[in-house]
Amino acid sequence: FSCRKSTMWKYKEFMPVDQSKIVSLEEGGTPFVRCQKLGEDLGVDLYVKVEGSNPTGSFKDRGMSVGITKAVELGVDTVGCASTGNTSASLAAYAARAGKRCVVLLPAGKVALGKLAQAMFHGADVISIKGNFDEALEAITALALQGQLYLLNSVNPFRLEGQKSIGFEIVDDLGWQSPDRIILPVGNAGNISAIWKGVNEFYNAGFIDELPMMTGIQAEGAAPIYNAVKNGKKDIIPVENPETVATAIRIGAPVSATKALRAIYDSNGLAETVTDDEILNAQKLLARTEGIGVEPASAASIAGLKKLVETGKVDKGEKVVCIVTGHLLKDPNTAINACEKPVEVEADINALSRIITGK
Ligand code: F0G
Repeated sequence: FSCRKSTMWKYKEFMPVDQSKIVSLEEGGTPFVRCQKLGEDLGVDLYVKVEGSNPTGSFKDRGMSVGITKAVELGVDTVGCASTGNTSASLAAYAARAGKRCVVLLPAGKVALGKLAQAMFHGADVISIKGNFDEALEAITALALQGQLYLLNSVNPFRLEGQKSIGFEIVDDLGWQSPDRIILPVGNAGNISAIWKGVNEFYNAGFIDELPMMTGIQAEGAAPIYNAVKNGKKDIIPVENPETVATAIRIGAPVSATKALRAIYDSNGLAETVTDDEILNAQKLLARTEGIGVEPASAASIAGLKKLVETGKVDKGEKVVCIVTGHLLKDPNTAINACEKPVEVEADINALSRIITGK
């Protein structure tokens, strides 16, 4: 396997797969953008890792490349997942590429339109569940245990093996050093666990001599990890009816909670919550000050950073990497609703010039 573009497979020696069977869409190698304006406003040295630039528009592609490669190695014929949207979009694409049947369970009415379109268009069998993500995950896990499909949610350790490459790339992007802090949205809690694994592998290999403080941000209405950290607990109490505009992280019983809590505690990190308004404001702020369009869940990282700076929990001058996990166009409805409708006029130069000049 070789390719000119820098992808996550730059680090293939760290990936536990048969290198002759890799299924790739050239995922990873995503932009690492210094955000000077926003950083100065917040008083930190800010970088944003733009995971929306992956093939299907979210970080899930990293884990799915490894996960599907493993499915090929194992020779399974059907793969499946439950999803708030992005995992299903990614799995559908990689399953298509590998020639596998794909079954996805989605919480009815709670999946952003772009993600639903992707899952359907790549040919997955899309099933809407009358229930939330946690219930869908329980159902698909039971089907997997009956041997009906190969489960590719992040309970599958090979998913995390792929996603740890975000940690590798951040270190590489910074010239082989660790940032002070990595901030990211937390839903099912796989990604924070995976990135912590990645930076530790580089630390243990002697590539870096410090580790970042892992900082997880949850929506106020779906914050079991935050609640556990606040109370110093090593395990979560599930949130019964999780709710947030950031449907990607509308999760009450994160499957990797224990690992995520270990990452936060062992790294001397933090957990924080943000409101839906704070998420939507941060989404617009990032889009309009830095030109980076992300979906609401991704903006939780920026909203969280802002809150942590304002409350003095993040020190001035820290080198901070915010991971923005999915592209703006994943959730077009939320984006359109957050803006005023365009004015509609005749294509008349005088009318147009009155609007542009405001006179
Ligand atoms: N951001 C986005 C855009 C996501 O889609 C997800 C998770 C997360 C953050 C949280 O990551 O679960 O590893 O803590 N989406 C999953 C899905 C649940 O089904 O697409 P996590």
